[in-house]
Amino acid sequence: MQWHCWVQLFRMRLCVTVLGVLVLLSGSLALEDSCLGGAHHKNAPGPERNMRECFTYSNSSCCHANFTEKLVSPVTKVDNTSWITCGNLSDRCEAFMKKIECFYQCSPHAAHWVNKDYPAGFLNVPVCVSFCDGWLEACKDDLTCAKNWLTDFKLDIDGNHCQHDCVPFSKMYSNGTDLCNSMWGPSFTASSSNCACLQMDAQDSVAVPHMLHSDSKSSSSAASQEKACQHVWLSKEKFTGKQEQ
Ligand SMILES: *[C@@H]1O[C@H](CO)[C@@H](O)[C@H](O)[C@H]1NC(C)=O
Ligand SMILES: *[C@@H]1O[C@H](CO)[C@@H](O)[C@H](O)[C@H]1NC(C)=O
Ligand SMILES: *[C@@H]1O[C@H](CO)[C@@H](O)[C@H](O)[C@H]1NC(C)=O
Ligand SMILES: *[C@@H]1O[C@H](CO)[C@@H](O)[C@H](O)[C@H]1NC(C)=O
Ligand SMILES: *[C@@H]1O[C@H](CO)[C@@H](O)[C@H](O)[C@H]1NC(C)=O
Repeated sequence: MQWHCWVQLFRMRLCVTVLGVLVLLSGSLALEDSCLGGAHHKNAPGPERNMRECFTYSNSSCCHANFTEKLVSPVTKVDNTSWITCGNLSDRCEAFMKKIECFYQCSPHAAHWVNKDYPAGFLNVPVCVSFCDGWLEACKDDLTCAKNWLTDFKLDIDGNHCQHDCVPFSKMYSNGTDLCNSMWGPSFTASSSNCACLQMDAQDSVAVPHMLHSDSKSSSSAASQEKACQHVWLSKEKFTGKQEQ
């Protein structure tokens, strides 16, 4: 009888422990990266060998390596969207367009901003103004006929076509913020933070966990969040050295 009780007690403890571990696991899984629900997205991010582009995501990618073949220069069309409705893009402008496309298709972070009404897309991803300004600087002399590339083209079976004149990006968009906030509809929003925002490169792996963490502690002021973010950055840089550029 006594032995039986011990077994019971042991089972209960085991049960409580297992439950505890499960709760902990599900808590951390909620912060884990997942993928958007687009035509090319994988179910979950994972390593990809032999990517031709978007290398920054090769250790944890939401796109298959074969998708990146579409992004080898010169890029003319990605899925049904032509990038060259007003003629070829300059190399530097194309490079920024690629960063955006790689983020959308391959980044394991993108799904944190999933559009609940349209799981293939995201909403208001906070992009650093410095990125937006760099993007406009790179594309300023390139031509476009659509301000919002999701809504301002004429669409038919062959894809997107101009219904307005081609003008330089520098005329279409008043500044980098305008470009980020307009070109892909509500997908991106220019963020005035220097730190808690995305650059579409390796730095995002540092910034994103911090951004998600500070979201849940929204009691702290924007200024102190910015300070904490800078702090994380500086301590990280000490170990890794500044990557890229
Ligand atoms: C992928 O992971 C390896 C091993 O941790 C690391 O050396 C490499 O820099 C990573 N690559 C990228 C693109 O982050
Ligand atoms: C790309 O690769 C994935 C996984 O290997 C495969 O399921 C898919 O069919 C491939 N797509 C194309 C267009 O080849
Ligand atoms: C556009 O780029 C393609 C491929 O690089 C090239 O063959 C073509 O001549 C270019 N067109 C113009 C107008 O520069
Ligand atoms: C491209 O357009 C075709 C025909 O309109 C459509 O069937 C297909 O789903 C589209 N592909 C993507 C990836 O949106
Ligand atoms: C960017 O342009 C918008 C108008 O399109 C304007 O409201 C905003 O103040 C400008 N921002 C900067 C930083 O110049």
